[in-house]
Amino acid sequence: MNPTTQHELRLAERMSRLGTETAFEVLNKARALERQGKKIIHLEIGEPDFDTPANVVEAGIGALRKGWTHYGPSAGLPELRQSIAEDVSRSRGVKVSSDEVVVVPGGKPIIFFTLLALADVGDEVIYPNPGFPIYESMIHYLGAKAVPIRLREERDFSFDVNELASLITDRTRLIILNSPQNPTGGVLSKQDIHDIAEAIGDRNIMVLSDEIYSRLIFDGEHHSILSIPGFQERTILLDGFSKTYAMTGWRLGYGVMRPDLTTHVARLMTNSNSCTASFTQVAGVEAISGDQTSVEHMRSEFQRRRDAFVTGLNRIKGFSCRMPKGAFYAFPNIKKTGWTSKKLAETLLEQAGVACLSGASFGDFGEGYLRFSVANSLENLNQAMLQIDDWTKKNL
Ligand SMILES: Cc1ncc(COP(=O)(O)O)c(C=O)c1O
Repeated sequence: MNPTTQHELRLAERMSRLGTETAFEVLNKARALERQGKKIIHLEIGEPDFDTPANVVEAGIGALRKGWTHYGPSAGLPELRQSIAEDVSRSRGVKVSSDEVVVVPGGKPIIFFTLLALADVGDEVIYPNPGFPIYESMIHYLGAKAVPIRLREERDFSFDVNELASLITDRTRLIILNSPQNPTGGVLSKQDIHDIAEAIGDRNIMVLSDEIYSRLIFDGEHHSILSIPGFQERTILLDGFSKTYAMTGWRLGYGVMRPDLTTHVARLMTNSNSCTASFTQVAGVEAISGDQTSVEHMRSEFQRRRDAFVTGLNRIKGFSCRMPKGAFYAFPNIKKTGWTSKKLAETLLEQAGVACLSGASFGDFGEGYLRFSVANSLENLNQAMLQIDDWTKKNL
């Protein structure tokens, strides 16, 4: 007990099952080292290093001046829901109407709300591993059963659909897909999506399709299970503004789902956030319907950095890295170094001045890998490679 408090903090039992995102812990550790005078190159955090496009910032400021500072509808402003519906209809090739859209503060709440709305205690939820740690954290928190599906390096970090088929049981309530994928940069092909749809068949299983990196594809095209006939009513599409428009701090994302589920997710919004910030949503309309030049600029810049960084990583002793097809991460295999992921990530931070994440912080099947974000300048990425190379030459 803290010596200055008189009463023991009695947390609800469920809090012991809540996980976290290591990226924020590593960032704090890196900042502490910086306060001691050390220079750190930050490749741990998953957010674009670009500014939000100027037209979007202006729309946000204009909205504040015009008084968009009040509560709005829980499911989102009608104008934004309409713009999203049109955008998703175009990009995924299906007819989506505005009553199928719920606007929320970032992509993350869609993960939480979907699980809250659909998964009962003991229900099974299949999710990618290594994968975004919030999936596993939320599944455990709600007392559902977490069923990991292993992403395989030899398949460019896709999974084996036969394995998926073998994991589906009568208790499977939800399958989480993520493409382009965090942390591996893997992308599901059209064939993968068809095979997954076939494995699910006509079972009443819902799919949470996390497509937050849908506009960050370097090779090939983005494919969504939402486009497969018969899957629109079983899919919750998660997408948003954080990565596409460099708007992480604005907190703006959305889910697209059947209208009878929208009502329940909107009710969860009423019970938690009331609504998403109104001026942020006005800026969101501009982001979707305004000039898209900056989206392509960011995408091509990430591609340039990915090419240079992955090529460089492959020259480092003990590292081998596949070329990620999307998102902005490199996920090298470091098994030949003989180090565990956690120890190597910690040591690179302390001794090489490079902050990255242990693959194991994305689940058990991430052991043997590290995650680097390429959302940093080419100059810093090149410097990071030099420092890691130098460290490995002295220590491996
Ligand atoms: C796979 C994935 N889904 C969802 C999110 C959450 O995005 P947001 O910041 O919009 O909540 C992230 C953010 O890193 C992510 O990597």
